Amino acid sequence: MARKVVFSGVQPSGGLTIGNYIGAIKNFVDLQDSYDCYYCIVDLHAITIPQVPKDLRKNTLEVLATYLASGLDPKKCTLFIQSHVEAHAELTWVLNSISYMGQLNRMTQYKEKSRKSEENLNAALFTYPVLMAADILMYQTEFVPVGDDQKQHLELARDLAERFNNRYSETFKVPEPLIQQFGARIMDLQNPGDKMSKSNQNENSYILMLDDPDTIRRKIRRAITDSIGEVIYTDDQPGIKNLMNIYNAFSGDSIDAIEDRYRGLGYGKFKDDVAEVIISGLKPIQERYIELMDNKDYLETVYRQGAEKAQFTAMKTLRKVYRKVGFIQK
Ligand code: TYM
Repeated sequence: MARKVVFSGVQPSGGLTIGNYIGAIKNFVDLQDSYDCYYCIVDLHAITIPQVPKDLRKNTLEVLATYLASGLDPKKCTLFIQSHVEAHAELTWVLNSISYMGQLNRMTQYKEKSRKSEENLNAALFTYPVLMAADILMYQTEFVPVGDDQKQHLELARDLAERFNNRYSETFKVPEPLIQQFGARIMDLQNPGDKMSKSNQNENSYILMLDDPDTIRRKIRRAITDSIGEVIYTDDQPGIKNLMNIYNAFSGDSIDAIEDRYRGLGYGKFKDDVAEVIISGLKPIQERYIELMDNKDYLETVYRQGAEKAQFTAMKTLRKVYRKVGFIQK
C-alpha cells in the first residue's frame, strides 16, 4: 500500500534557531521512516522579505546541510529546493484565483510582517500563504509537521483544497497539521510572551542551531525567569516552562521527570543542565553540518535528485488542475 504523504518546508532566511529544530526539523526526522516525506527549502517564500542574492544562495545550501545533519536521509525522503519545481509557482496562480482577499487580510503573520515593513509591503507577502497551500496540496499531502505559528496557514490550505474540490470536482487531499504537544512554540528567552525568532534584534533572545557551547551557556544563563524559584510546568512561569520544553525536546525526559529531578534545587542548577542538554544534542549535528558544507558536490546531488522526484509528482497534480480549470492541453 502506498505510504501517506508528509510535506513541510523551512525558509532559507539565515540562521535556524532551536525553535525551528524543536518545532519542525526534529519531527521531520521522526516521520521519514513511516511516511512518504517531502521536505522543501522554500526560497520562493524567502524573497517576500528583501534578500541579498548571494546570501540567499548560501542560506539555501545551509538549510539543506542542516536537514541532512539533523538526520534526514535522501534515500528515505525527498529533499528539494522550491524554485527547482516550477509547478509550485504555477499552482499558486490558480489557487490565487479562488483565494479571498478578506481571508488573506486576516492572516496574523501577514498583519505582523506588514506592520514591520511598511516600506516594502509587496504583493508576495500578501499571497505568501497561497504559495504555502500550493506547496502542500501539490503532493496530495496528508500531514504537515509544523510549529504552532503555521496553524492559521494550514487552515487556509485546507479551505482552498475544499473550495477547489467543490468547484471543480475532487482533486486535492485536505491536509492535517501535525503540531506536537510540547515544543510547538519555543519562546523568546528574553521575553517568554513572544515566539523565539531569529529576526529579533537581541541575540540573547534566541539560540541558533550553530551557536557554540559558550554562547549557549551564556544565553541560557541570561534567560528571563521569575522569582518563584521552583522548576514547575505552569503558565504562571512562562520562562521556566519554555526552558522545560527545550530540555524535554533535547533529552527526551518527560516533563514530570524534569519536575521531579529539580524539585527544591532552584533555577541555577536547572539552567546549567538545560544548557548542557542543548550543547550535547546539537554537537553531532554541528559536526556533521561542517562536513556537509565542505562537500558541495554531495549537496548538489541531493537537491538535483530531490527536485527530479518532486517534479514528477508535482506535474501530475498540475496537469490535472490545468485540465479541470479549462486550460487546453499543450
Ligand atoms: P519558517 O521557516 O518560519 O519556520 C520553519 C518551521 O519552524 C517552525 N518554527 C517554530 N516552532 C516552534 N517554536 C518556534 N519558535 C518556531 N519558529 C519557527 C515553524 O512553525 C515551521 O514549521 N511558512 C513556513 C514555511 C513553509 C511551509 C510550507 C511549512 C512554506 N511552505 C509548507 C509547511 C508546509 C515558514 O515560514 O516557516
